[in-house]
Amino acid sequence: MSPFTIQDYIKTRAARIETELTRSLPREWDVPRTLREAMDYSLMAGGKRLRPILVLAAAEALVGEEKAEAAMPVACAIEIIHTYSLIHDDLPAMDNDDYRRGRLTNHKVYGEAMAILAGDGLLTHAFYSVVQASRLHGVPANRVLAIVEELSMLAGANGMVGGQAADMQGEQGITQLEELEYIHLRKTSDLIVFSLRAGGLVGGATPEQLTALQTFGQSIGLAFQIQDDILDLIGDEQKLGKPVKSDEKQQKVTYPYFIGLEASKRKVEELTERGKTALLGAALPQPERLLELADYLVHRDY
Ligand code: IPE
Ligand code: IPE
Ligand code: MG
Ligand code: MG
Ligand code: MG
Repeated sequence: MSPFTIQDYIKTRAARIETELTRSLPREWDVPRTLREAMDYSLMAGGKRLRPILVLAAAEALVGEEKAEAAMPVACAIEIIHTYSLIHDDLPAMDNDDYRRGRLTNHKVYGEAMAILAGDGLLTHAFYSVVQASRLHGVPANRVLAIVEELSMLAGANGMVGGQAADMQGEQGITQLEELEYIHLRKTSDLIVFSLRAGGLVGGATPEQLTALQTFGQSIGLAFQIQDDILDLIGDEQKLGKPVKSDEKQQKVTYPYFIGLEASKRKVEELTERGKTALLGAALPQPERLLELADYLVHRDY
């Protein structure tokens, strides 16, 4: 067992990712000052950096730490997209929340118009960032092409955005549990699936390995959103950096709403085990960190 714990691993990877994120939008670009500020405000507010860590960990599982560095621009890209999705998710027209990542939400500081545009700016910039994997690190163009294609699908109407749309249409008393599973798989698992497959693509994964990474991502992504629903009920606002009881206030359907707290917790554990089993079938050279990350997420309290 490495003395370098999973907590250390997360901390060092998150620090490297944050350094890269600060220079992602080139300083010399002519961007209106308030727009740049609003984009940076949410991007640099912290957050667990889970998705970019998964990109790096998936690449490392295949080619080791040094070569996995080539995945960094893709890791930044998914954190940039995730951050835009949070800015829009918090808007008055959506979940109408005032705090995120321990700060006032973007629209509370910059107003709704600038918050929408900061989200637009981040979303578009993510694709620029993906391309840098090729420009700066020599990742073959055909792999970057596949990553751009998958990002468009999994972050877009066929993925996260589709899930957010279905989430907005969900209604207590009407939406069924199977539909909620669909919502969670789209709005949350899809970005996690992307992270794992994209790390795999940079590392030259075989189609079988990509499928295993995908199954792993679907399971731990669903578990992640169920845990988010649980923490919305029983979490600590201070630790979470966002309001609790937001789902109740918005009358959202959630796993605890359908099956209760205890069954939801068991479901998180079950899904995590299922995901790990799928990953172990992939014959990745070094899957340990991915497995540890899955276990780490089961017990997270923020
Ligand atoms: C929050 O994601 C939104 C969900 C999909 C549950 P995270 O819990 O990863 O938020 P940050 O990035 O740590 O702020
Ligand atoms: C949001 O789910 C998922 C996204 C795609 C942003 P939630 O609405 O439950 O996320 P939080 O609880 O506000 O972070
Ligand atoms: Mg939401
Ligand atoms: Mg929300
Ligand atoms: Mg939530």
